[in-house]
Amino acid sequence: MSLILGIESSCDETAAALVASDRRILAHRLAGQEAAHRPYGGVVPEIAARAHVEILPRLIEEMLAEAGIDLAEVDAIAATAGPGLIGGVMVGLLTAKGLALAAGKPLVAVNHLEGHALSPMLSDPDLAFPYLLLLVSGGHCQLLFVQGVGRYRRLATTIDDAAGEAFDKSAKLLGLGFPGGPAVERAAAEGDPAAVPLPRPLVGSAEPHFSFAGLKSAVLRAKEAGLYRDADIAASFQQAVADCLVDRTCRAIGVADGATALVVAGGVAANRAIRSALADLAAASGLPFVAPPAWLCTDNAAMIAWAGALRFEAGLVDGLDAPARARWPLDPDAEKARGAGVKA
Ligand code: KG4
Ligand code: ZN
Repeated sequence: MSLILGIESSCDETAAALVASDRRILAHRLAGQEAAHRPYGGVVPEIAARAHVEILPRLIEEMLAEAGIDLAEVDAIAATAGPGLIGGVMVGLLTAKGLALAAGKPLVAVNHLEGHALSPMLSDPDLAFPYLLLLVSGGHCQLLFVQGVGRYRRLATTIDDAAGEAFDKSAKLLGLGFPGGPAVERAAAEGDPAAVPLPRPLVGSAEPHFSFAGLKSAVLRAKEAGLYRDADIAASFQQAVADCLVDRTCRAIGVADGATALVVAGGVAANRAIRSALADLAAASGLPFVAPPAWLCTDNAAMIAWAGALRFEAGLVDGLDAPARARWPLDPDAEKARGAGVKA
């Protein structure tokens, strides 16, 4: 049994957690920065990095005190080393390096996407490799065949926006506020998902990828038309995203031979309509459906500590020269999607 301290700082959540390799979460802390970014309608990288510097040291101290654990009792220090906003990643990774050096503990540099990808195993002890994973977050929208720790085959990615990005941009267009995903979900609860005709980009297409940019533009046109209630646009948008995710995932189920389960992770997996659409797809395909609780879907440090624990137990530790990386694909062999820009 090993005990891992995990740190997350790749976007606008400052988080620290203590997780044991037997899945016990001894403590986890998270400080959001919504108020600091809200006036700008999105995450400002410079503000995020400075906030991590101010918040992280005390957060770690308080978290250790809450668990009654001394740094000397921890087996390794894990931190997100990318991908993400580079200033924030550097703050968390350097903090982890400082702790590792001071306490004489090994460092585990964790890919944030691997944190999301392995998070369902933390909440579901029965989940076994290999599984088909839909990873839907603010920066990424991918289908991955998860074969083991460090072994990921990317089956699909987005050719433009990520699903969470589409939620955030649409929320902004509708004036629903920030962060966008939960705001759209709240508005959608009062709306009719069939009220506004919106496109389903790439649905039915033979190529495996996702696309959401056209959907976002259609939301803008629907808003400008002045014919629809915001709640109806929000509900119709959410339904369109769910339809796209289900169609593309259904296609991937056909090629993910031997998958033990259909799994969803990442911030957008907190959305109840999307979870239930995917649960229906899994049931229709004869696969168990696994989704972590909502707090484990959005960014947190427990998933980083957990990925750190699995890597540590597999002997995958890193030197103090481990780099902070703005981009870091989980599957280095995956080809760029046609039309893909910056999404790795
Ligand atoms: O995984 P995450 O916390 O951070 C990244 O790694 O990107 O995902 C954040 C994304 C944001 O785009 C946010 O709007 C979206 O997840 N999100 C949601 C919901 N909660 C968070 N999207 C739809 N419905 C939600 N309830
Ligand atoms: Zn994330």
